[in-house]
Amino acid sequence: MPRQLFVTTALPYANGNFHIGHIMEYIQADIWVRYQRMMGNTVHFVCADDAHGAPIMIAAEKAGKTPQQFVADIAAGRKPYLDGFHIGFDNWHSTDGVENHELAQAIYRDLRANELITTRVIAQFFDPQKNMFLPDRFIKGECPKCGAKDQYGDNCEMCGAVYSPTELKNPYSALSGATPVLRDSEHYFFKLSDPRCVAFLEKWTQGSNAQGRAHLQSEVYNKIKEWLLPDENGKRDLGDWDISRDAPYFGIEIPDAPGKYFYVWLDAPIGYLASLKNYLGKIGVDYDQFMADPATEQYHFIGKDIITFHTLFWPVTLHFSGRKTPNAVFVHGFLTVNSEKMSKSRGTGLDPLKYLSLGMNPEWLRYYLAAKLNARNEDVEFSPEDFMARVNADLVGKYINIASRAAGFIAKRFDGKLGAITADGAELLTLLRAAQTGIEELYEDREYAKALRETMLLADRVNGYVDANKPWELAKQTGMEARLHDVCTVCIEAFAVLTAYLKPVLPALAAQVETFLNIAPLAFGSGSQALGTGHRIGEYKHLMQRVDIKQLEALFEAPAAPEPEKLLPGGEEIAPTIGIDDFAKIDLRIARIVNCEAVEGSSKLLRLTLDAGEEKTRNVFSGIASAYKPEQLIGKLTVLVANLAPRKMKFGISEGMVLAASHADEKANPGIYVLEPSAGAQPGMRVR
Ligand code: 2FM
Ligand code: ZN
Repeated sequence: MPRQLFVTTALPYANGNFHIGHIMEYIQADIWVRYQRMMGNTVHFVCADDAHGAPIMIAAEKAGKTPQQFVADIAAGRKPYLDGFHIGFDNWHSTDGVENHELAQAIYRDLRANELITTRVIAQFFDPQKNMFLPDRFIKGECPKCGAKDQYGDNCEMCGAVYSPTELKNPYSALSGATPVLRDSEHYFFKLSDPRCVAFLEKWTQGSNAQGRAHLQSEVYNKIKEWLLPDENGKRDLGDWDISRDAPYFGIEIPDAPGKYFYVWLDAPIGYLASLKNYLGKIGVDYDQFMADPATEQYHFIGKDIITFHTLFWPVTLHFSGRKTPNAVFVHGFLTVNSEKMSKSRGTGLDPLKYLSLGMNPEWLRYYLAAKLNARNEDVEFSPEDFMARVNADLVGKYINIASRAAGFIAKRFDGKLGAITADGAELLTLLRAAQTGIEELYEDREYAKALRETMLLADRVNGYVDANKPWELAKQTGMEARLHDVCTVCIEAFAVLTAYLKPVLPALAAQVETFLNIAPLAFGSGSQALGTGHRIGEYKHLMQRVDIKQLEALFEAPAAPEPEKLLPGGEEIAPTIGIDDFAKIDLRIARIVNCEAVEGSSKLLRLTLDAGEEKTRNVFSGIASAYKPEQLIGKLTVLVANLAPRKMKFGISEGMVLAASHADEKANPGIYVLEPSAGAQPGMRVR
């Protein structure tokens, strides 16, 4: 019986473009979906924009748009990423869609009827200027522990202390700068501490689905057990969940509670159902019937940062509103790039669109990520060297090579037709085909790295056979025609088998191969069919290029240097950790400002002439005109970034950069301070 699956990835916030972390998750899920379809199963694979919440509302306001328009504009930019990496969602919807409004309200009503909703008055910071309650992220102040300034409302980035916003000293609203006041408000809570919820979760989180597989990976269960299970004093961390926010809020109105909205995390996962419902409507399938069907299986792919929402809040929401709970939640780790950790909003140095625009093959990335992904909640590291090695040596060198070694002979010498296979080749093909069930299981279990390793070992066997038989030599020998035909036929048959094993990962390539081999779409689920003697294959066109190191260099090349007026630090967080080697790449030198003048046509720039002990002076533009008059700087020593690539600007070429300090929010805290060394430093000395 074919299975019937409903698969999602996490819904991305509609306040920014995708970064490589999103793409990795989508590729992981897409591979699984394609595998399921190759097994003959029906899969509905849906996603949506996570539209609601205060940050998006505020970002929209800043951009001068309605939240709806803001979200629509973000949504409009999704397609190039998804198409570009062959991510085949059946539907892309929004949590602000009508289905989600209806479903969220219906689910809430069901929970309320089940006596799992309660209200409580809580005191919260209110911005009297903006006339709104402030989310924690928008309250700043001094850390109550270490006194560090400009810390967020929930924890201190300097000393790591965790606190509530009301503990901040001299708090201010990050929106208006106003001093927030405490104000009471009635909030709606989901009674997660209800014994029914606790009992359900204890069972569900350890349970298995109808397919005999655990709802959660063991490492994920071990993580959430801390919240779920009582400590030695019998106390549990799992408290009631605050699911309401006060107007103004971009969200879904809570029924019978004027001015109250669902907290974004209440309606976000309901967006999975809403997108499915929207999709089923388009293809003429009844949503209620589909969800009521016990055969329907529901799976969510998510990252490790949103485990609690998906493994505690979401199943309990579904169960106590009388709905189907997920068959499993699949958690993956983060993607690090060059060992840099991912920032949720900024991503990493690997920009997916830049990757595509450089003409890099999306299937290289799919292959590489698949070769690193397993079923566990573990981080995945993207390393350029490793990427190049795996794609060039394995994918192209081992797999593509098999076809390119055989196809020419079949075309030229045998009119494109496959020949008869003798014992050794038949044995090899039997071995290849015997691996199919095992590979299917590895895909089912999301053990992609193992599936690809198996496949490459099989490719090694085929290449061993080619090397032993040397078709290029057979081709030159008389009387070896039949053997040449035999060997090349084995290669083509083997190539078809290997292509099937790689097809979930490399869908576009597999389609090309199917055309080239002149065969029906490769599938799983039953034994693979031989193409057979006499089958005529199509013309071989080169299937895949190797990665060129230049492409990788271009991919990680820093974006063009910022305009000098923006040279001052933009963010407030400490940048990701670097090694001493990274620091040593920056050549800082003492330089004397031998001349300094205003720049005609720019109110921000000064033109500096610097003597860094070299033969020639340097011309450097610096965005410090707001803080210095030229004559204040002439004769002073400062610090120059001496090995920064020269940059062509409107006013001339800038040959380096001088160091200066400023506040991250320059508008609110003006002031620029050029660095000056202690007395005795000489132009040309290195700063280290
Ligand atoms: O963490 C995030 O990016 C959320 N937007 C994920 C939501 S997943 C689901 F609940 F919608
Ligand atoms: Zn602190």
